[in-house]
Amino acid sequence: MSDDHGTIESLSSLAHDDGESYPPSAEFREQANQRSPEVYLRAAADPEAYWAEQAQNRLTWKKPFTEILDWTNPPFAKWFADGELNVAENCLDRHVANGLGDRVAIHFEGEPGDTRTLTYAELTHEVKRAANMLTSLGVTAGDRVAIYMPMIPETVISMLAVARLGAAHSVVFGGFSAESLRARIDDVEAELVITADGGYRKGRVSPLKPVVDQALELDDADGKPSTVKHVLVVKRGGNDIEMTEGRDLWWHEEITSYDGEHTPKGFPAENPLFILYTSGTTGKPKGILHTSGGYLTQATTTFSDVFDIKPESDVFWCTADVGWVTGHSYIVYGPLSNGATQVMYEGTPDTPDWGRWWQIIEKYKVSIFYTAPTAIRSCMKVGRQVPEQYDLSSLRLLGSVGEPINPEAWRWYRDVIGAGKTPIVDTWWQTETGAMMVAPLPGLTSLKPGSSQIAQPGISIAVVDDDGNPVENGQGGLLVVERPWPAMVRNVWGDPQRFIDTYWDKFGDKYFAGDGARLDEDGDIWFLGRVDDVMNVSGHRLSTTEIESALVGHHAVAEAAVVGADDETTGQAVVAFVILKSQQHLITEAEAEQELRAHVASHIGAIARPRNVYVVNELPKTRSGKIMRRLLKDAAEGRKIGDTTTLADTMVMQLISDRVVAER
Ligand code: WT7
Repeated sequence: MSDDHGTIESLSSLAHDDGESYPPSAEFREQANQRSPEVYLRAAADPEAYWAEQAQNRLTWKKPFTEILDWTNPPFAKWFADGELNVAENCLDRHVANGLGDRVAIHFEGEPGDTRTLTYAELTHEVKRAANMLTSLGVTAGDRVAIYMPMIPETVISMLAVARLGAAHSVVFGGFSAESLRARIDDVEAELVITADGGYRKGRVSPLKPVVDQALELDDADGKPSTVKHVLVVKRGGNDIEMTEGRDLWWHEEITSYDGEHTPKGFPAENPLFILYTSGTTGKPKGILHTSGGYLTQATTTFSDVFDIKPESDVFWCTADVGWVTGHSYIVYGPLSNGATQVMYEGTPDTPDWGRWWQIIEKYKVSIFYTAPTAIRSCMKVGRQVPEQYDLSSLRLLGSVGEPINPEAWRWYRDVIGAGKTPIVDTWWQTETGAMMVAPLPGLTSLKPGSSQIAQPGISIAVVDDDGNPVENGQGGLLVVERPWPAMVRNVWGDPQRFIDTYWDKFGDKYFAGDGARLDEDGDIWFLGRVDDVMNVSGHRLSTTEIESALVGHHAVAEAAVVGADDETTGQAVVAFVILKSQQHLITEAEAEQELRAHVASHIGAIARPRNVYVVNELPKTRSGKIMRRLLKDAAEGRKIGDTTTLADTMVMQLISDRVVAER
């Protein structure tokens, strides 16, 4: 374990506020969905009543709820527990019933340039057929279905079909390795995996079905075969794949047997909707469990208020992958429950060149655009002359998510992409929070570049010291959520003790988010990064421990320590320090570095591949044997090495830092 778990001392940098602030224009304020600060007061006066009102007004219930929040068994919350609804019906059928069937739900743009348009009527029809197909494959309420897909409409169709049946989906990001996929399939005991032959990425077909095959061939931890009975395969990449007789089925062949008649049943508000894995401070990812009624209430409310969506006229685009929570809440459940029109893009921003995103915005007249700071910084590097070649005048609001946005990136985003006038909403939330928690309301908040600013109405956030006492304005501390919120994580799948230990042990009934934050003189919130062993690389959460376990799993490695080092583009980068076993002198250090980077990518996924692997002779340890990652981080970031007095051997750090410098 690291020497700096979960304390304020581990905060690396302090953000600061130079007083710059952008009030909403009169024009924006007048048309905004939330234009009176009264909403904050009303919600604060009675948060439960506020959320009940959202749940009632914004959603369709099969059976109305009479209970709001049940917090009699903390930290296990229940929201709207005696109510029943169908999540898919809320995203589809009710819009069609309201005469909106012809509205475009999804403008799909494939990476090679192929396109598909799905109206709400068409999407509803496809989801009904898929629900019938899944039923005949044995999927029923309470089951879990694994989804390992590229960014194509069938991914959304699959998720909604699973939800429609009252089953839960577990989407695994297509960049994860066979081993990671298998661990997730095993953990949820999925009997069905939905995948595609492959999908397009960076101008090539990236295979998916072969990874599923590999995953299912692996032995699980107990040497048992997997629980999977069927693999449903969407044809997308056209790459050669093998189909196992009796187990594997082509989607396009199966689906022809099913019609579009399907009546949605109501399921209890606390019925599981999805499980999504995220890295924690230990080696094993946690299955974050979300349920139906509360989750959908907050996803739909925040989508409408923070993005100021006008479903009849806006075109929304979130660039995230559906494999992450951002895609769950702001590609699938938020936009579709609001009846909004959105763009879904399969590929990467640089294919065929860096103009691709801006060309898509011009083509579909995107009005609201949601992306991550790391992407903005990449575009800044490429230069403003690229977006300047496109007509981006349809944009009226920009969003940011995934990591703190540095003020330079914020200003560039507003000036170059937002014509110097669009509001930017910096939205803080987590896989665990399910939906946005801290974000401006664009018709009300005077924006400060680099700050997420203020808790959403009905959400109670505080910044506290190590003992849980609120800090004063101008001070830094740890971010907590003081009251249960509708979209909150309900449990860690199969591991309630870990749920308690991770989020509730530190402060009792307050949720510990793992983020450091500072309150400025106005009480606005500035996020400072994680305070635990979680790294944030391009807006993705990675665990130092998980990567260390992958490294020591390699036959040549004796010991490994991993740190997240500041990186100009990706926010943080994975930097590993390894000691090789003594008999490994036959391979060169350069070969070892190469091989270990690939090893991590193949064990966890390409997103976890270290930027650097340094072979060293010794790691800095305290006399009690704890690795001092703080010092390794100094070295990796090219800083003067901090206090080494507690090291058992003070020379070690000099050697390591010489090693890093030699390679720069
Ligand atoms: C962690 C959650 C929320 C969807 C994407 C990531 C960091 C996220 C912000 C932001 C500062 C942010 C936090 C958080 N984070 N958004 N706007 N400002 N930090 O979801 O993978 O669960 O990661 O991302 O550190 O704890 P996730």
